[in-house]
Amino acid sequence: MLINLTILGGDGIGPEVTEQAVLVLQAAADTFGHQIQLQRKPIGGAALSAANDPLPGDTLQACLSSGAVLLGAVGNPAFDHNPGHLRPEAGLLRLRRELGAYANLRPAVFFPALEDCSPLRPDVVRGTDIMIVRELLGGAYFGQPRSIEGAPGARVAVNTMRYGEAEIERIARVAFDLAMKRRRKVSSVDKANVLECSRLWREVVTRIGKDYPGVKLGHQYVDSAAMLLVQRPTDFDVVLTENMFGDILSDQAGGVVGSLGLLASASIGGPVGLYEPVHGSAPDIAGKGIANPLGAILSAAMLLRHSFHLEAEAACVESAVSGVLAQGARTADLAGKAHTAISTEEMGRRVVEAVRASAGTGRDRTERTA
Ligand code: IPM
Ligand code: MG
Repeated sequence: MLINLTILGGDGIGPEVTEQAVLVLQAAADTFGHQIQLQRKPIGGAALSAANDPLPGDTLQACLSSGAVLLGAVGNPAFDHNPGHLRPEAGLLRLRRELGAYANLRPAVFFPALEDCSPLRPDVVRGTDIMIVRELLGGAYFGQPRSIEGAPGARVAVNTMRYGEAEIERIARVAFDLAMKRRRKVSSVDKANVLECSRLWREVVTRIGKDYPGVKLGHQYVDSAAMLLVQRPTDFDVVLTENMFGDILSDQAGGVVGSLGLLASASIGGPVGLYEPVHGSAPDIAGKGIANPLGAILSAAMLLRHSFHLEAEAACVESAVSGVLAQGARTADLAGKAHTAISTEEMGRRVVEAVRASAGTGRDRTERTA
């Protein structure tokens, strides 16, 4: 198969971690007999510096004409005082919208090897396996009007949280469909005691839930969900929520499983899927070679699974990651006191090695399914 990709390194640690993910993709492609074709394009602050546009037309065209997009991160404090449309983040938000990527899947899985990394007691966190389904194109992120207006000292800022029934319906179906393949439980998170958007959300999710009698649906207010996520993370299977609540809860889930550096994501629903680690650009550690590339590498696994339907290849990358963690490989975010930290590159190299080591089994699998 031809795996045709656009790589958007972006800002901060983005380029370093995506480089390792690309090497892992290459190893998986070699192992399973696929071909990778890729082009690299600027986005975010990197594109602002080069073209004064956080999503240049050329970058968007490249994304739209490829099979999938792998992105590192956007965000650079140098642009903090720019107007909204000239911030790095605006490039990512526009890209999500242009790609029609309304469903953001953010798995938070606890690796048994990382018991010492979670701030939670092992008996609380052990077995955590959550799939956050975050609506990605609605809510306050995109709602109009939005503005800051008025004279200095008396300015007023406005954002609009907005959801249509159809938007809620389609993301709810994604969550229920995923739950059918998992532990058949959906926790819908809202703030229906305060927000109209959430009341409509709850009503629509309940209606869609009737089409999935085998799935247990529960509703939680976001404040309570935040507490339960640290108190009893294993109670959650699929978490279905709107854009901003999903942004917040997914970072929290990263903390629960030991490091945000491990979290991967897939943004799907449109013609081209977008894959990115959840962690962001982390400018404080950029260029030091210490960032954790596993979030990007696991995003690459999601890319193989969701955009190319290469399940065995995706599983191979995922088991390579748990394998190297089991052998004690730790980047600085995971090292703690008991381990010596290895570099971004070294972590990538070990995953590549583990993927290549599975070559025999990989080829067998390809032949069987061919
Ligand atoms: C994320 C990030 C983005 C978001 C930012 C960079 C726009 O925090 O992917 O979680 O808020 O969606
Ligand atoms: Mg975020």
